[in-house]
Parts: sequence; structure tokens; C-alpha cells
Amino acid sequence: MGNLLTLLFTGLLLHSVSAVVLEDFQVAQPPPVPRDAKQCTLQILQRDFAFSFGSAEVVTFSPPTDCGLPGSWSGITLNLTVTSNGTQFDRLGIFTFQNVEIWRTSTPEPSRGDGIIWTYIKDVTRYIPLFAKPGTFILQLDNLIQPGLDGIYSTTVHATFYASSAAHPPAKKADLIIPLSTFANNTGDDASVPPSFSLNVTLPQNSVGIYAELYASGNGNEEFWYFNAPNQFLPDLPPGITFGQGPFRELRVLVEDQLAGVAFPYATIFTGGIIPTVWRPITSYGALDLPTYFLDLSPFIPVLVDGKPHKITLDMSSAEDDHTVLQNWFVSGLLQVITDSSQKRTIGSIKSYSADPFAQTSASVSTGANGDVNFTVTATHKIHIESEYLSGSGKSTHVTWTQDLQYSNIQNYLKNGSVQNVFQHAQGNCVSLHNDIVAVADSFSYPLNINITLLSSNGSSFNAAFDHSYNRDLLPSPLITGSKISENQISSGFFNISPAGNTGNGTNANTFEYIDADGNTYGRKVTALLNNITFDVQSGNLAPVTVRQSTSVDQGLFEGSHARLPGGRVVS
Ligand SMILES: *[C@@H]1O[C@H](CO)[C@@H](O)[C@H](O)[C@H]1NC(C)=O
Ligand SMILES: *[C@@H]1O[C@H](CO)[C@@H](O)[C@H](O)[C@H]1NC(C)=O
Ligand SMILES: *[C@@H]1O[C@H](CO)[C@@H](O)[C@H](O)[C@H]1NC(C)=O
Ligand SMILES: *[C@@H]1O[C@H](CO)[C@@H](O)[C@H](O)[C@H]1NC(C)=O
Ligand SMILES: *[C@@H]1O[C@H](CO)[C@@H](O)[C@H](O)[C@H]1NC(C)=O
Ligand SMILES: *[C@@H]1O[C@H](CO)[C@@H](O)[C@H](O)[C@H]1NC(C)=O
Ligand SMILES: *[C@@H]1O[C@H](CO)[C@@H](O)[C@H](O)[C@H]1NC(C)=O
Ligand SMILES: *[C@@H]1O[C@H](CO)[C@@H](O)[C@H](O)[C@H]1NC(C)=O
Ligand SMILES: *[C@@H]1O[C@H](CO)[C@@H](O)[C@H](O)[C@H]1NC(C)=O
Ligand SMILES: *[C@@H]1O[C@H](CO)[C@@H](O)[C@H](O)[C@H]1NC(C)=O
Repeated sequence: MGNLLTLLFTGLLLHSVSAVVLEDFQVAQPPPVPRDAKQCTLQILQRDFAFSFGSAEVVTFSPPTDCGLPGSWSGITLNLTVTSNGTQFDRLGIFTFQNVEIWRTSTPEPSRGDGIIWTYIKDVTRYIPLFAKPGTFILQLDNLIQPGLDGIYSTTVHATFYASSAAHPPAKKADLIIPLSTFANNTGDDASVPPSFSLNVTLPQNSVGIYAELYASGNGNEEFWYFNAPNQFLPDLPPGITFGQGPFRELRVLVEDQLAGVAFPYATIFTGGIIPTVWRPITSYGALDLPTYFLDLSPFIPVLVDGKPHKITLDMSSAEDDHTVLQNWFVSGLLQVITDSSQKRTIGSIKSYSADPFAQTSASVSTGANGDVNFTVTATHKIHIESEYLSGSGKSTHVTWTQDLQYSNIQNYLKNGSVQNVFQHAQGNCVSLHNDIVAVADSFSYPLNINITLLSSNGSSFNAAFDHSYNRDLLPSPLITGSKISENQISSGFFNISPAGNTGNGTNANTFEYIDADGNTYGRKVTALLNNITFDVQSGNLAPVTVRQSTSVDQGLFEGSHARLPGGRVVS
């Protein structure tokens, strides 16, 4: 023990001489904003998130006046740059502006010595109507400082506005953005479900298009929701190995208690997920920019435009008999509304409605004499809604909204639960047509495989391997450019928890392709081995002109890393 400690300590001293700050990043396309446009960059906030639980950063933000008339911009990006040095868990970050959630992120776990830094450039062009006026900007980043946790997230957020011109016309924008939020003025505006979250919303009477965007992430006992077991099979499993309520999750939107649409969530793995050292310096896909979900609520225009408040509900349901999930999911959303040029009320009716309130599901189990347990959960959900409406200016619209979604989840609990594997696949097609023109389209496929092997009976050391994809051909609404992303991450690593300092390693191979309807392209192949970038090629017309020098950081000791496993097990 003494020798080992000495060795580790010497190693640390050597590293502090030779190492450099670790630059973490999530692979993503650079925002397709015009680089040659006039730009105005303003600082929104600067904050050291130390003990910040319940103490969000709340500032007033006003748009620039020297990049054209407010709202006339061709694009807007946010630059989040954070440094940290010490020990800390990953934390969720929720950006709210004008009571609308505009970005959900999470923090890479820091390390001590030279620490870490990351920058993420987020495209917020679709929120131009919010940025056109002064308002309250809130960054909620609930961090804890306590014995054993001293990592502070030192955070700066800038906004860059891109002026429009003949070459770069103003970005398309909604006439109005309506929050589906808690309207809190002192913290993030997402709601914690269960129970379901409902609010009353009043739409303009001349609405002719209503497009929803939804935010959702599983946290607490729902962080590894895809590893949860159906309640009926829990008695077959070794105790404490995972949670109940099954692995199927469906985000539902209801209008006046009638189902309007659903989303099968992508499984974002946070950077403390299972093997923290696998997610350095390449984070899991989505960790810095969680995907959101898009539905066309236009078929409900006939119900919503009477000038009265209407109840809209967001909830998360499971495949269990009572459809409930554990604590907790953070959800919020917004409606991008298009209004008619006349002030007159839109009139119409829902012509056809075919949707079960919940997905159709099945579950089966196979148990072996040796105690092995395998189970499978499947789900499908089909929705078809048709409406017709006539705008005040005399345009009639026939709108259809169709969703056809499939889901399967197979889990293996082998060798007394020391092997725990999940094979999940959520996929589907969603499309809305307005007079036969596609308005919203989402073809997605999210295969996920994770194999965990515990190497000691007390669970203090383990291996895991991940194969995770995000394939999505998405047109979010007629206001937002459609894009296609093919993303795959294959990664694996080892982690050991010890009072003398956690150790671990990891490899990560990330392949990413982006193409959009405006002709922008971006590709990246990047691999890492134990904090070192071993291969990195970017391509496409969005690729940076000068490619960043890859950093080499050799840190064998991961004192800063905290791992979490399914079932709330372990581990600090
Ligand atoms: C982002 O902001 C940081 C400072 O907070 C700055 O150093 C960096 O250059 C900015 N990155 C871009 C791409 O604007
Ligand atoms: C990180 O924090 C440690 C103390 O925990 C300190 O010794 C070290 O100098 C810090 N590194 C940087 C880059 O500030
Ligand atoms: C937030 O502030 C707005 C405007 O002052 C107010 O209408 C709203 O009720 C406040 N929200 C809460 C939850 O207090
Ligand atoms: C919506 O408004 C109705 C009528 O004023 C009220 O009874 C109901 O509680 C409100 N619902 C919510 C979720 O605020
Ligand atoms: C469970 O699945 C594993 C992996 O496919 C297989 O080797 C094993 O035989 C299965 N056991 C049972 C009881 O179904
Ligand atoms: C499982 O645990 C039992 C009792 O603790 C033990 O006898 C058996 O050898 C273990 N089996 C395996 C495959 O580890
Ligand atoms: C866990 O068990 C391993 C041996 O299998 C041992 O080396 C280690 O100290 C144990 N860890 C804890 C925290 O008990
Ligand atoms: C997980 O284990 C299965 C069965 O042994 C194997 O086919 C699959 O490739 C493994 N997954 C990863 C990501 O290594
Ligand atoms: C990670 O550590 C484990 C355990 O020491 C070792 O077996 C494995 O080869 C290491 N992997 C890499 C990529 O260094
Ligand atoms: C990381 O790269 C540095 C510099 O090339 C090298 O010295 C070090 O051995 C590498 N570390 C690993 C774990 O490969």
C-alpha cells in the first residue's frame, strides 16, 4: 500500500510539471451561420458555480443595436466556455431566456492539477423572436461543494449576432414563441415529472401553424432508465442491481387531456456515466447539447384558437401497468406559432383522430438454472390525426400528423449479475403534411448497446463497452433548416474505485456526418486513448479552416472522476 501510494503521489508531481489543461469536447457540427457576416458579440454572464444549488445565475440581457434591427439577424450563437480544477460530479445546465428553455447541457467531470476546459458553440437562431427584446436570462447549474467535492465550474457565456444582408437574408422566424414552462424567474424553467406537468396556454386566434419543441432528460433514479427492469422481473434479479419501472420511456404531449404526439427519448449518457474515463476528452454524444424533440400541434388549431386558455400536459410514461416512472425527468417545451396576416379567427375542425393514449407494449423473461436472467421489452405507437382549417385571409389547410414508432430493449444479467448488458433500439418515422407539403419530419434510429462487467464482488472495479448511435433525418418545422446526422460512438474502459484515488482508462472512437438542406456539410472522425487524441480528421464546408492542435495529456490518476452505475450503485 505504502509503495503504491508513493508511486501515485510521485506520478502526480511529475504530471503537474508536464501536463497541460485537458480540452474536453462533444463532437457536433459547427453552427451553419455566415462567418463573413458582420458580427456583434456580447457577454451574457460570467459566474463561478461553486455551491450553487438553488442559486441560479439570473441576468438581464438586451440585444445589440449595431448588427441591424433587433430580430433581423441571419443567425445567433451562444459560446459557453467553462474551466474546472478539482473533484466534482457532472452537473446539468439549463439555459432559460424569456421563460423558455433554449439549451440543456451538462458538465464534463473535471480533474485536479491543470484541470479541464471546454467550449461549446450552440446555434440558437431558432429563438430569434426571444432575443429581439430585452429579457431575463437564467443559467441553472446546481453544483455542490462539500467534503470530497471541490470542483468549481467557472463559466462564461457570450452571444454572437450575425447581421443580415443581401448575401445573408434574415433567418426565418416564428411570429410568437410560447413557453411550455414553469415561468420561474429565479431558476431553470423546466418541470420535474412525475407527476405530469400541465399548464394553461392561450394561443392567438389567428394561429395557422403551431410547432412544438420538447426538452427531456432522465436524472436521479432515471439517469439509466434504459437499464431499469420491469417490476414483475425484479424478484428474478440480484437485489440492488437496478431500479424498477422498466426501461421503456415515452414523452407524451396532451392537449385538453387528448394525446397530441409522443417522443421516444435518446439516451444521453452523462460524463460520469459508468466509466467516466471513457468520456474524456470526447464526451458522450449529446452530453453538451441534449437533443430535443419536435411535434406538429397544428391539427389542434381548431381546438386552441378560441381565445381561451387550454390545458397542455407533458408527461413521461413507462410500459408498466400504471405507466409511471421514477424520479425524475426534467421536461419543458415551447410552441413556435405562425399567425395569419389577418386578425380574424381561424376556423376548422379535427377530421380524423387515431391514437391510443399509451404505446402498445410487451415484456418477457428467460431465467436459467444458473441464475442468468434475460428479459425483453418492446413497444410500438402509431398516431394519425387530420384537421382542416380556414385562415381569416381565406387560405384553407389540410394538415395530417403521423407517427409510427418502435422500441425494443433486451437486458442480460449473467454470472450472478456481474455481467449486465443492454441492447436498446428506439426508431421511428414522424411526418406532418400541410396541403401535401412536408412541414415536420423526423426519421430517427437510436441503437444503444452497453456491456458492464463487475470485476470484484464489492463492485469497486469494472469494465464497460459502449456502442451508441444517433441517426436522425430531421425537419423540425418550416422555420428551421432540415438536417441529417449519422453519429456513432464505440468506446470502452476500465474503472477502479479506491480511497487512494480512483484509476481508470478508456478509448473512444467517434464518427459523425452532418448534411443540411442549405448545402452545409461536416464530418469528423476522432479517436482517443486515455485522454490522448490519437486520430482526428474533420471534413465538409463547415469544418474549421485551421484545425485545432490535438492536445496530449497523460494523466493516469483520475482523482477528479466520479462514476455512477445503474441501480444507484456506488461510487465516489
Ligand atoms: C468562446 O469564449 C471564450 C471566452 O469565454 C473565448 O476564449 C473563445 O475564443 C470563444 N470561442 C469562440 C469560437 O468564439
Ligand atoms: C488546481 O488546484 C490545485 C489545488 O487543488 C492547485 O494546486 C493547482 O495549482 C490548480 N491548478 C490550476 C491550473 O490552477
Ligand atoms: C415571473 O415574472 C413575470 C413578469 O414579472 C410574472 O408574470 C410571473 O408571474 C413570474 N413568475 C413566477 C413563477 O413568479
Ligand atoms: C387552467 O385554468 C383553469 C380555469 O381557470 C383552472 O381551473 C386550472 O386549474 C388551470 N390549470 C392549470 C394547470 O393551471
Ligand atoms: C441469456 O442471454 C445470454 C446472451 O445472449 C445467453 O448466453 C444465455 O444463454 C441466455 N440465458 C437465458 C437463461 O436465456
Ligand atoms: C454466484 O453466487 C453464488 C453464491 O454467492 C456462488 O456459489 C456461485 O459460485 C456464484 N456463481 C458465479 C457464476 O459467480
Ligand atoms: C473490493 O475488493 C477488492 C478485491 O476484490 C479489494 O482490493 C478492494 O479493496 C475492495 N474495495 C472496497 C472499497 O472494499
Ligand atoms: C456486448 O456483448 C455482446 C455479446 O457478448 C457482443 O456481441 C457485443 O459486441 C458487445 N458490445 C460491445 C459494445 O462491446
Ligand atoms: C485499462 O486498464 C485495464 C486494467 O488495468 C487493462 O487491462 C487495459 O488493458 C487498459 N486499457 C487500456 C486501453 O489501456
Ligand atoms: C499520450 O501522448 C503523450 C505524448 O504523445 C505520450 O507521452 C503518452 O504516453 C500518451 N499516453 C498514453 C496513455 O498513450
